[in-house]
Parts: sequence; structure tokens; C-alpha cells
Amino acid sequence: MTMREEIEAAAARYPDRRSAIMPALMIAQKEHGHLPGPVLEDVAEILGVERVWVYELATFYTLFHTEPIGRFHLQLCDNVSCMLCGSEALLKHLETTLGIRKGETTPGGAFTLSTVECLGACEMAPVMQVGDDYYGNLDTARLDALLESFRAVERVARIERAAASAPGE
Ligand code: FES
Repeated sequence: MTMREEIEAAAARYPDRRSAIMPALMIAQKEHGHLPGPVLEDVAEILGVERVWVYELATFYTLFHTEPIGRFHLQLCDNVSCMLCGSEALLKHLETTLGIRKGETTPGGAFTLSTVECLGACEMAPVMQVGDDYYGNLDTARLDALLESFRAVERVARIERAAASAPGE
């Protein structure tokens, strides 16, 4: 199904096409990785809604990205429960380990580090979201293990990309 078809299918579930902007942005972001201006224009055109409505939502919510992000987007919650359970120290640990500051992406494009508001999973604070997955009850050892597993996935993906672009393949 094309992005346009997916957005049309999502819009059909709502009485007002404006209500479908959020799901349409999710679909577009999954397709393109992030939401640059031309993609936002496409979403507005497909839904037949004002462009400003699409821009407003895309720039308000932290789950939407108008700039390119790393293949692993580390979104550490820094709201009250997580802060009380040590998220500040975890942020410092991630910044030191990855060599980037909050809001930045590692040079190879593997990791982007962000802090976000409450992820709605305070019972397992401190919490980090990566892609669609939540990781809770974090400490530095668990963070290091997670980073290592992401790096392993990244290494496999790099090998697959190299193999796919090799001559004669
Ligand atoms: Fe972090 Fe709620 S405060 S998940």
C-alpha cells in the first residue's frame, strides 16, 4: 500500500479529515524517516486540509521529527517520576558514552539523544523509548547493555547494506 493509500484509509476512519492529521503524520514519518517540508505539504494535499494545521502538529509533538534523526532515537523521560529515579544521571551517562549532547545525533547517524515528557510508564521509571519500544527500570548497566544490542543491530544492518550495494549482487 502506498503512503497515499494508507493515509486515505486512515482518513476514512474519521468524520472530519482534519482529525486524521496525527495518524497521517505517523504514516508519513514511517515512510520517510522524518517529516521535511515537502512531506508535510504532501500530507496536507492528500488530506485536503490547511497546511498550517499539519505544520502545527508536526512541530508541536516530540514524536514527530522535521529534521533527520538517528536510526536509534533514544528518548529518555526526564519528567518528575523518572527524574526522582535517576534520569539526570542516566542522561549524563548517555552523553558521555555516545559523545553527544541532548538533541544531537552521533556522526554516523546511528543514535539521536533526546529527553521527553512523561511517557506514561512511571511505574517503571526511569524509562526510555526507542522506536516503538519502552525500556524501564533503567540503570547505567542496563543502558550499556541496550546500547551494545543496538550497536550489534547496526553492525548487521551495515553489513547488509554493503552486501546489497556490492557489484554483481
Ligand atoms: Fe517518566 Fe512518567 S515521569 S514515564
